[in-house]
Amino acid sequence: MLTPPTHSKNVNYSALVHRIGGHGADAWLTHYEAVAARERGEDVLILSVGDPDLETPAPVIERAVAQLRGGDTHYVPAAGRAALREAIARAHAARSGQQIGAENVVYFAGAQNALFAASLCLAGPGDEVVTFEPLYPTYPATIEVSGARLVPVPAAAGWRPDLAALAAHVTPRTRALLWASPNNPSGVVLNEAELGSIAALARRHDLWLIVDEVYAGLAPGGRVPSLAARLPERVVTLGSLSKSHAMTGWRAGWLAGPRELAAHAEKLAMCMLFGLPGFIQEAAIAALALADEAGQRMRAFCATRQERFAVAIGDIPHLRAVPPEAGMFMLIDVSATGLSGGEFARALYAAERVSVLDGAAFGRSSAGCVRVCFATEEATLDAAAARLRRFCESLP
Ligand SMILES: Cc1ncc(COP(=O)(O)O)c(C=O)c1O
Repeated sequence: MLTPPTHSKNVNYSALVHRIGGHGADAWLTHYEAVAARERGEDVLILSVGDPDLETPAPVIERAVAQLRGGDTHYVPAAGRAALREAIARAHAARSGQQIGAENVVYFAGAQNALFAASLCLAGPGDEVVTFEPLYPTYPATIEVSGARLVPVPAAAGWRPDLAALAAHVTPRTRALLWASPNNPSGVVLNEAELGSIAALARRHDLWLIVDEVYAGLAPGGRVPSLAARLPERVVTLGSLSKSHAMTGWRAGWLAGPRELAAHAEKLAMCMLFGLPGFIQEAAIAALALADEAGQRMRAFCATRQERFAVAIGDIPHLRAVPPEAGMFMLIDVSATGLSGGEFARALYAAERVSVLDGAAFGRSSAGCVRVCFATEEATLDAAAARLRRFCESLP
């Protein structure tokens, strides 16, 4: 067997490589183990990843196939096709009330990629970006790749943002506030009062506001309260088709913000991506045209699964599920078992082959919890609930 080549002892890597390791990586070990076991055909139940168990809408697939067959296989402008950016601008306006045009939008390979671009365009060495716990596990590396530091603020009761603590964490080095609404994993949607305090803070300290709305299509009516129309000069909205349309693998997302920022992000897209596949961009236009139906389908899917799972685990000893306002995740407080979220997740997998995620992956505030994704088959949820029950009943 060939030994994979290793690097010479005399070379060095950039400082960047040390910033992209990611902190909560261990939390995913059980998940990867479960995925490998499933690939071997073993009986495992995976509730650890946020990838809705639904097909991409058929017209979207048809459009991509037709474009491919029609030869849409060539280079595309770095910022994305004008028609797609216009469609994104219209979707953003309908959701947020902020009237923007194609020049405010850059198309990226998912909201994750858009966050990476925002991070590099807005912050750098010596800067700080403040965020609320619980926080999506890629945020630290995605912000710190720029050389800036991500500063997490512990959550208040009910996983809501602690606004007093948030204000106390803002320093002269703070360049931006970052949050997801709905939140992953808590499902919290920031309300008008919270946004009002954040807006005042942003004005007082001249901050950027980076808002990850990847789950907005799953909030009631497919909308979340937004500051974009009120603070158009400082709000950067990140969105994608991943969750609303069950299109995680298509990698179709965007950044919407001030046109100067979009111009910088376009240059970054140019040197990073040199354009993304045109046939997927055309499919994304088709997806945006059916956003209402797609969102309704996903919300109905999540609502029935959430209710079913909540009922199934409601009376399991030691567990306290925290119902989300929106989204596809549920935090379950397992602290009454005497185990941390990580210990619980590992022991549950070892005993029952159910994979859930350690809440500590989302920050210290959720270390006594595990996160489950309920956007899956009912049979899987029922079986997982039965195994969770057996596991908890076996605990001392
Ligand atoms: C909060 C949050 N932001 C961003 C992403 C990445 O989304 P996308 O698939 O659009 O890159 C995810 C994916 O799970 C997420 O949970």
